[in-house]
Amino acid sequence: MPKIVLINGDGIGAEVIPAAHQVLAALDLPLEFVYANAGFGTFEKTGNALPDETIELCQSADSALFGATQSPMTKVDGYKSPILQLRRRFDLFANLRPAQRDAIDLLIVRENTEGMYSGRERVEEDGETAILERVITRKASERIVRAACEQARSRRSKLTIVHKANVLKETCGLFRRVALDVTAQYADLQVNELLVDTAAMVLVQDAPRFDVIVTTNLFGDILSDLAAGLTGGLGIAASANVGAGRFGVFEPVHGSAPDIAGQGIADPRAAILSAALMLDHLGYADAATKLRAVTYATPHTGSTTDTVAAILHHLN
Ligand code: IPM
Ligand code: MN
Repeated sequence: MPKIVLINGDGIGAEVIPAAHQVLAALDLPLEFVYANAGFGTFEKTGNALPDETIELCQSADSALFGATQSPMTKVDGYKSPILQLRRRFDLFANLRPAQRDAIDLLIVRENTEGMYSGRERVEEDGETAILERVITRKASERIVRAACEQARSRRSKLTIVHKANVLKETCGLFRRVALDVTAQYADLQVNELLVDTAAMVLVQDAPRFDVIVTTNLFGDILSDLAAGLTGGLGIAASANVGAGRFGVFEPVHGSAPDIAGQGIADPRAAILSAALMLDHLGYADAATKLRAVTYATPHTGSTTDTVAAILHHLN
């Protein structure tokens, strides 16, 4: 029986993950659930944002459903974002972020392990200059573009490579070259490329023209919020972090929303739609399709429990 680790994390994570759990449990699938800790709160209590125990549970599990973590704006000694750690630790190199509403139905495939998230950042001795190393490798570029090509094949067979190779000649240059090489092996796909700034504009003006977008880590982070904004907001933006193996981490695109946490008003649908992505990944495609349809058709009432109740009602 597939085992799922439920990680609330911080803020509204503690509301939306139990909500998604409730909905998953109502589907009557053979799934086993176990809760585990991670997040800034866990760091404050234990000195570790991602305890070994949580990592071990994930190692023995089929998937994790992750709520949100608080990300401090300034450096906190010893704190490392648990979601970034999980992506790296389990080599979950592909971050799949679908966005759909009306005529828009697109999927952002975001590279998840390198780029500007290399962690290679430092301040020079004078304290006046900060430097970030943006790491792009052939290996990571190749596998993310391949993953995007496979996704495109299962959708409308269109792929847009997004980069900024006109300025970032080495890093984006490498990503672009590899992307063009890989996509050349997919003659069935309609492939084009866009600079990231242009892609942002075209997304706003004409998002229906996109099917799959593949891009590097930070560009994918930014464009996925833009796509979420075009299709109903962060309340319904879901994502999947997957790699070569079975284990994946599924998480709403939204953050911990400390301003509304604890009030019972958080929109649980992004977490529930992330659970639907998880069901797809685990091979429960019919349940996933049904859950997605019901969740998209259910407005958020402003109360987490009422929205969950409405979804449960429509599921039955
Ligand atoms: C996301 C988030 C994370 C990211 C943060 C919380 C580290 O914004 O999943 O999009 O930047 O990847
Ligand atoms: Mn983000």
